[in-house]
Amino acid sequence: MIKNITEKILYVGVDDTDIDLFESQYVVPNGVSYNSYLILDEKVAIMDTVDPRKGDEWFENLHTALAGRKPDYLVVQHLEPDHAGNIARAMELYPDMQVVASEKALKMLPQFFFDTQFEGRAIGIKDGGTLSLGGRTLHFVMAPMVHWPEVMVSYDSTDKVLFAADGFGKFGALCHDEEWAGEARRYYFNICGKYGAPVQALLKKAATLDIAIICPLHGPVLTENLGYYIGLYDKWSKYEPESEGVVVAYASIHGNTADAARKFADMLRAKGAEEVTVVDLSRDDMSKAVEAAFRCSRLVVAAASYDSDVFPPMHDFLHHLAIKNYCKRRIGIIENGSWAPTAGKAMRAIIDRFKDVEVVEPMVTILSRLKPSDMAALDSLADAILK
Ligand code: FEO
Repeated sequence: MIKNITEKILYVGVDDTDIDLFESQYVVPNGVSYNSYLILDEKVAIMDTVDPRKGDEWFENLHTALAGRKPDYLVVQHLEPDHAGNIARAMELYPDMQVVASEKALKMLPQFFFDTQFEGRAIGIKDGGTLSLGGRTLHFVMAPMVHWPEVMVSYDSTDKVLFAADGFGKFGALCHDEEWAGEARRYYFNICGKYGAPVQALLKKAATLDIAIICPLHGPVLTENLGYYIGLYDKWSKYEPESEGVVVAYASIHGNTADAARKFADMLRAKGAEEVTVVDLSRDDMSKAVEAAFRCSRLVVAAASYDSDVFPPMHDFLHHLAIKNYCKRRIGIIENGSWAPTAGKAMRAIIDRFKDVEVVEPMVTILSRLKPSDMAALDSLADAILK
């Protein structure tokens, strides 16, 4: 797709609607876009390439949008292959083009493109560095760990455009018109979630810029109501919940733990919980479970014991939360076991790695199946988690 963002900035990115899993792990029912932009000033700059899966289509877009001109610069804001995958091909096609990237990126480039000669063809950028395109200047801001260490974002002070790299990106190809926050949140917490502090640092730097348009590397270009998007990013990167709801996530082998989790969720609803989301960790999408856990202020985990540990789908979920820096939440625990329940202790061992969480008592232990005699303990946990 080619589209004018401003008079001299064109969108030249591509949709990917036939990818099975983004980054080999995230379902993307509406695909994903790999965004790339072209600035046609006195000098011509390409802002990032696209995933090799869609290279041919991108080069066609580029060729059409260039309308006979040649690019002077390829600005590489992020080296992850979904954006950098066509660097070598572009350098071959445009032999006079210079690559412009952070100094960190220049060090990493030969790791990906060991057959490409970068000497004499690459310009290293430091924080605060600039690049004149004649009629306008690009200002570069280093954004390490948003989402890799070499990332930088670029600001066009003429059109007041922030090229935000992975920041403000979302799942979903541009051919699908959908609400922004749901898939942007799932993208953010699963991909950048660990890096709240670097995102906060970038937001502070961005706050000093007069921004009219945000051009991310995935998802739609943001042109209106920017305070809404920036406000959500501020909340997410501070690990603040958006809802006082409860996520009840269960990992059940034969359905008995699932039954307990569902009855517990009904109990929460009956007690007036603001929002209750039940997740079957064996069947529901993991990235959506992670997104829900970050969105809500409270989490209750219910799992069967397994091999003197915890049933693996729960271990996997808690591991995902741990590596994404899950914190600042209240957590309740329900374990099930038929002879020697171990799930609670195993879950607690991972939860204890989370920062600033309150583990709510009592931990509830069920032996094989939920029984009337278990209801009092569940009731106490429901009261405690809602308190
Ligand atoms: Fe869309 Fe971190 O790459």
